Amino acid sequence: MAIVTGAGTGIGEAIAHKFAKEGARVVVSGLQDDPIEDVAESIRDKGGEAVAFGGDISEAGVAKECVDFATNKFKRLDVLINNAGVFLDNAMTEDYPIEDFDQTIRMNIRSAFLMTRFALPHLQKTRGNIVSAGSESGMIGLAQNTTYGGTKGWMHAFMRGVAVEQAQNGVRANCVCPGPIDTAWTHKETGPMDKQMETALIQATPLARRGTTEEVANVYAFLASDEASYVTGALYVVDGGTTIAKGPVGDLVPKELRKEPKGELDLQHRHDGLRNKETHRIKAKK
Ligand SMILES: NC(=O)c1ccc[n+]([C@@H]2O[C@H](COP(=O)([O-])OP(=O)(O)OC[C@H]3O[C@@H](n4cnc5c(N)ncnc54)[C@H](O)[C@@H]3O)[C@@H](O)[C@H]2O)c1
Repeated sequence: MAIVTGAGTGIGEAIAHKFAKEGARVVVSGLQDDPIEDVAESIRDKGGEAVAFGGDISEAGVAKECVDFATNKFKRLDVLINNAGVFLDNAMTEDYPIEDFDQTIRMNIRSAFLMTRFALPHLQKTRGNIVSAGSESGMIGLAQNTTYGGTKGWMHAFMRGVAVEQAQNGVRANCVCPGPIDTAWTHKETGPMDKQMETALIQATPLARRGTTEEVANVYAFLASDEASYVTGALYVVDGGTTIAKGPVGDLVPKELRKEPKGELDLQHRHDGLRNKETHRIKAKK
């Protein structure tokens, strides 16, 4: 039984579907106006078991309610996936809106802390595990959204601390660290990135394309499974090689090698993650 946060859109949608396909019962957590009911229904239509939970899990009461909802309904909790997060800005640090800094800390950090805190007593009973959304940007930083990169560096250290501390309770904790993934965030039409940022993102990726949400979900499924029983405190990069690239090496890759795998999951909300949020693209002063 797994809780997947931020599961109405993007990578979370794919994780929820993948886990259900592998036989997990899933709580599809997201903001009230995320398409969480739609994702849960789509999983049930395919014979899986899923229920939606709507609410802002950066509020302590709501995070507790989400864990209580899952454990009351399914009588256990085996896996917590801390996937929820926001990417609100493309701005130099000197121009970064202070309210977006606070919001990014809340949505990316506070939510993961609260969910982990409330889930741990249940995970200790099942010898369960946690997999959280890190990022290559948590390793090498992210220009023009330095706040976001910082939240992911926090996530890496948080999960590693939890991994060491909770080993004595039989609980593992890991991070999946994606590179540029094909969600709302990495397209200029649906997020704060501009053309220049979008191009640089692909050029700096040796595999020369965005990863699919399903390619990321596959690694979540591995880390959450018993097949990863000796893996804890890992920062598992799923980044097309971004963190090891020097310069625009993506340009070397021929077109025919840049095709995304078709995948198996039926996903409808890949690019919907920022529809209900205000984002900012602030031009740097010359
Ligand atoms: N897309 C990428 O390129 C990329 C790269 C590295 C890491 N990641 C990480 O993967 C995760 C998913 O990103 P995505 O690209 O799928 O984005 P997305 O916007 O599609 O998904 C994030 C979801 O989390 C939800 N959410 C945010 N705060 C919430 C809260 N407090 N309570 C409940 N729901 C909340 C959002 O509404 C959204 O549906 C994020 O943690 C992100 O940092 C993404």
